Amino acid sequence: MVIECFQDYESVSSRAAELVCEAISENPGGVFGFATGSTPERLYELLVTHYQRGEISFDRLTTVNLDEYIGLAINHEQSYATFMQHHLFGHVNVQPDSIHFPAAVPDPSVFEQLIQNKGGIDLQILGLGSNGHIGFNEPGSPFDSRTRVVSLAPSTIQDNARFFDSIEDVPHQAVTMGIQTIMEARKILLLACGPAKADAVARCLQGPQTEDVPGSCLQAHSDVTVLLDEAASSGLNK
Ligand code: F6R
Repeated sequence: MVIECFQDYESVSSRAAELVCEAISENPGGVFGFATGSTPERLYELLVTHYQRGEISFDRLTTVNLDEYIGLAINHEQSYATFMQHHLFGHVNVQPDSIHFPAAVPDPSVFEQLIQNKGGIDLQILGLGSNGHIGFNEPGSPFDSRTRVVSLAPSTIQDNARFFDSIEDVPHQAVTMGIQTIMEARKILLLACGPAKADAVARCLQGPQTEDVPGSCLQAHSDVTVLLDEAASSGLNK
């Protein structure tokens, strides 16, 4: 595992953009896994800039997103499909039929099949929940889990309430790639910023590997790069 620490969110995002651009340039027809949430917003803005400068192209890429809420219309302003459209896909030349999200119907395992058929995920971008979740694999998720319907932890509902008018509007269920699905990605890029992530970062990167801390599974992956700002790295033993 490579851990890189930066002073602030902007530097983390620039480094992430550099690594993603490199990966796209090396593998323009690859399968790229995207995350939503506030952490990768600046990364996506920078990728749009690199695209506009002609430095990268998305036209041969296949994209797979980590997760999607259940119970929101696909065009709901807080659906993850809308998020990706707004922050990245709507501004680059990705082919609409190359964009994929997990879905509860007809069957979450369809997404697993799709990933297999495309040859597996080349690079998976991850954020980290303050409770250590990756995707919506909440504490207690089996390390051998695959794409499935899950219930969100109360702490995740609380964390994500900031995106909704009220906490009552936050969906309680989602469909997420499993831990095993994520671990099968050839490369993983994990981003975490801000003091609210410090404890989860320390437990995921330096604590025991346990299903109570979903992100701790990443210690067993052979190609993970972690980008942190100072605040998120403050709980690590240097
Ligand atoms: C989003 C996802 C989540 C977020 C995590 C951190 O697709 O899978 O695991 O990455 O909840 O969210 P932010 O970045 O909003 O702190």
